[in-house]
Amino acid sequence: MKNFAGKTAVVTGAASGIGLALAEKLARENMQVVLADVEEERLELAVEDLRKYQLRVSGVVADVLVEESIQNLFARAKAEYGNIHMLCSNAGVGANSGPKAIWEVGKKDWDWVMGVNYQGVLHGFQTFIPHMVEHGEESHLMTTVSLAGLLPGSGTYGVSKHAVMALTEAARNDLLARGANVSVSALCPGFVDTNIDKSERNRPGYLTHQDVSLDESGISPVSQLLRRGKQPSEIADIVFEAIKKGIFYILPHPAWDDMLRDRFDQMLSREPLPTPSPDEMARIFTPRDDGESY
Ligand SMILES: NC(=O)c1ccc[n+]([C@@H]2O[C@H](COP(=O)([O-])OP(=O)(O)OC[C@H]3O[C@@H](n4cnc5c(N)ncnc54)[C@H](O)[C@@H]3O)[C@@H](O)[C@H]2O)c1
Repeated sequence: MKNFAGKTAVVTGAASGIGLALAEKLARENMQVVLADVEEERLELAVEDLRKYQLRVSGVVADVLVEESIQNLFARAKAEYGNIHMLCSNAGVGANSGPKAIWEVGKKDWDWVMGVNYQGVLHGFQTFIPHMVEHGEESHLMTTVSLAGLLPGSGTYGVSKHAVMALTEAARNDLLARGANVSVSALCPGFVDTNIDKSERNRPGYLTHQDVSLDESGISPVSQLLRRGKQPSEIADIVFEAIKKGIFYILPHPAWDDMLRDRFDQMLSREPLPTPSPDEMARIFTPRDDGESY
């Protein structure tokens, strides 16, 4: 996508973290931006804040888990601004299944993580893509995947993100095959300093259970990695430049490149997979000398 000014973007999960930074970046590039989120209060504050800079933004409370909620988001955005030219399917939750093995994870945990991270994106595609194809104006579809969608080892979260990656790649192929004027990109960050470690705040009541251990103290190892991660505004700048250049795989964390390379080298070696050494795992938890974050 080359031209942004005057066009309309919808960003899900826009009340916090990467989504909020993306919404601000797109609005500063003179797009109209609809911020969508399940967290009403935080959403209102975010919209109020951006309006102080005279940015053209609106907020719609939407739960990506619920198809009708996404259809309502689409209807509201279209009624306010007309054609929609960009969808950033960004809303997502970090899974909290504790020390369980993947086969021990219960249905409610699976339903939540797959429901938000995968079905939520699918609902967005099903609702917005036909509209973009039909109006025919230059448009763009972006999903916030994760490096967990390209690498093994992230439990249920990784499963949901691999699914989103496959979905995004499939959408790109099908749009190309139809000659649609819709470009596609998949954002795959490493650690970013957001509120994803407090995702349980958004788990709906019908998907909670007694097992869920709420560690929202911010001192868990993952929280510490997030605090050392990149800033959401840096990610938003990288995403914007990548979309302008037509890049599909957006990889803002070069510190992980060796791990990506190793994965494909191991596959192509046709040899038995080596067992990851504790040192390799510990590497991720150690701050890097070059200041680059995982
Ligand atoms: N922070 C990281 O290190 C990191 C790394 C890779 C990928 N990601 C991905 O980035 C995306 C954004 O997460 P973030 O890190 O900014 O976290 P965040 O918690 O700061 O923001 C996520 C937003 O999504 C919203 N949300 C949650 N469930 C929702 C639902 N059902 N419907 C609508 N909105 C909902 C939350 O209210 C929140 O505002 C997610 O898809 C996440 O998986 C994050």
